[in-house]
Amino acid sequence: MIKNTTASYGWLAIAIHWLSALLVIGLFALGYWMLTLSYYDPWYRLGPWWHKSIGISLLLLTLVRSAWKFYTVSPKPLGASWEQKGARWGHGIIYALLFVTMISGYLISTADGRGISVFDWFEVPALITGIPNQEDIAGEVHWYSALALVIAAAGHALAALKHHFINRDATLKRMLVSKTDHD
Ligand code: HEM
Ligand code: HEM
Repeated sequence: MIKNTTASYGWLAIAIHWLSALLVIGLFALGYWMLTLSYYDPWYRLGPWWHKSIGISLLLLTLVRSAWKFYTVSPKPLGASWEQKGARWGHGIIYALLFVTMISGYLISTADGRGISVFDWFEVPALITGIPNQEDIAGEVHWYSALALVIAAAGHALAALKHHFINRDATLKRMLVSKTDHD
């Protein structure tokens, strides 16, 4: 089933979740590796090209995801009331960090007034330029928000494993397979 219910995720939310998780981890690793490259390395230019193209794709995917979340219901978090509250806050924080990281990345890349070419397929225009020290400030924000995002995601993964192995509830199963009936 494509849509979520109050008890389970539909396949669209599941597919976007796991694709986003892969892209976030890949972007972090690629971004970190980019810093180690010397000017004469062919990846000195190619790395940022992939990083920015994938990053903008993730931004578009996250906008679709947010619209979809708004349109369908979200499954009710499982567990004790502190766990349910924690899940709502935790997911909210992850969404916020995703947007801060991607928007700051956009602001680094467009600080010089040039747009971003996405896979040489289309170009995202530079809309906000000329903030004093834009590239440096956005760069700092990008690094700390990306770091906070992967730390939050790691805590989030541990919480999912706790639900699965300790509480033995359907939290992880319903993010893996889409069905209404989870034993
Ligand atoms: C969730 C998505 C993203 C993650 C986890 C991520 C992560 C990172 C990391 C770890 C670095 C290296 C550290 C740094 O210099 O800040 C980096 C650098 C960079 N990222 Fe991202 N990034 C993401 C999305 C984006 C997007 C959407 C763009 C722009 C379209 C972007 C543009 C850049 C640029 C231009 C750099 C090089 C900055 C520099 O050399 O100082 N990133 N990113
Ligand atoms: C970078 C990696 C990840 C990011 C950014 C991420 C992000 C998110 C977000 C934003 C939600 C809320 C979905 C909604 O709108 O309802 C969510 C749900 C979920 N995630 Fe992740 N996630 C990541 C990795 C993982 C991993 C590795 C696991 C498993 C080990 C996992 C397991 C789950 C589960 C089980 C849910 C559903 C929670 C519930 O039903 O209350 N996630 N994730």
